[in-house]
Amino acid sequence: MKAIVIEQYGGPEVLHRREIPPPVPERDDLLVEIRAAGVNPLDWKIREGMLQGLLEYRFPLIPGWECAGVVKAAGDGATRFRPGDEVYTRTDIKRDGCYAEYVAVDERFVAAKPRNLTFVEAASLPLAGLTAWQALVVYAGIAEGTRVLVHAGAGGVGSFAVQLAKAFGAYVATTCSTANVPLVESLGADRIVDYTKSDFDIELHDYDVVLDTLGGEIYRRSFNVLRQDHGTMVSLLEQPDHELAEKSGARCGYLFMQPDGEQLEEIRKLVEAGKIRPVVTDVLRLGDAPKAQDLSRSGHHAGKIVLEVKTAAP
Ligand SMILES: NC(=O)c1ccc[n+]([C@@H]2O[C@H](COP(=O)([O-])OP(=O)(O)OC[C@H]3O[C@@H](n4cnc5c(N)ncnc54)[C@H](OP(=O)(O)O)[C@@H]3O)[C@@H](O)[C@H]2O)c1
Repeated sequence: MKAIVIEQYGGPEVLHRREIPPPVPERDDLLVEIRAAGVNPLDWKIREGMLQGLLEYRFPLIPGWECAGVVKAAGDGATRFRPGDEVYTRTDIKRDGCYAEYVAVDERFVAAKPRNLTFVEAASLPLAGLTAWQALVVYAGIAEGTRVLVHAGAGGVGSFAVQLAKAFGAYVATTCSTANVPLVESLGADRIVDYTKSDFDIELHDYDVVLDTLGGEIYRRSFNVLRQDHGTMVSLLEQPDHELAEKSGARCGYLFMQPDGEQLEEIRKLVEAGKIRPVVTDVLRLGDAPKAQDLSRSGHHAGKIVLEVKTAAP
């Protein structure tokens, strides 16, 4: 099969196109023929070796850990899906990923593809969708009327999280630059702080939940936005700052998203009900993986980048 692999850590030049044997599904695996693969900051962070110590990889490694495609084969223990089923998945980051024509994935991490989406659109959802779900629904327990600040509402995670929080009836504030105000408005944000014009921690106060997608100074300033003694801070980048948590009386957590097919089913229902739409802004070919990762690495890409792998069934 055609695949993009890295054989060492480094810059975009270590991404190479190779012809390699397709994976052989293990007992609980599905073999998925990939139609499209999502691109995430995780991909270039792993490529650059930023997760060494946390994850030990053997090379060559296929990057990219979300996709949509068609089931081609199933191991003896995989019983929920059959060849021909259209699926989407966030695969296991300990194994080879999805910048390829096929991936083997434990069927617990797989769900039916939302019927109203193309493969490209569906491939953009699993990683950002599960991250937002686990941060806002599982950790923060958002409900009707919860006041939520989602940082970087134009980004991959943020654009999903704003819509998810709205779907649960929350009041949603978000931050972005001037050019992205129309986008976050279209996602349903109730309050938008253009960070080039004002400071979110002066504009916003008495929020129940902050989803921090940016870290650093923004993470620390975000404690000012929370309701004293009742707030929840969930960060995708920072371990809890116990001093700030104690001062603000906030519950405080770091989230490292885990693959989960059942949660993807819940997300599928929201997408099919029209409550969440994918925001795909760049569709590139598999061979354009270096360009795709460069775009992601800019830190200012709005919406999601997707690599189209196959355009039609053979
Ligand atoms: N822990 C986990 O499990 C987990 C899971 C998913 C993602 N993450 C991490 O979370 C981060 C976000 O991921 P992502 O996929 O959403 O990234 P992304 O799509 O690359 O985010 C880019 C967005 O960030 C916005 N942005 C940049 N600086 C900003 C600022 N100061 N204020 C407000 N918005 C700002 C940009 O909008 P403007 O152009 O308007 O500035 C852009 O739309 C990444 O570091 C990623 O690695 C962690």
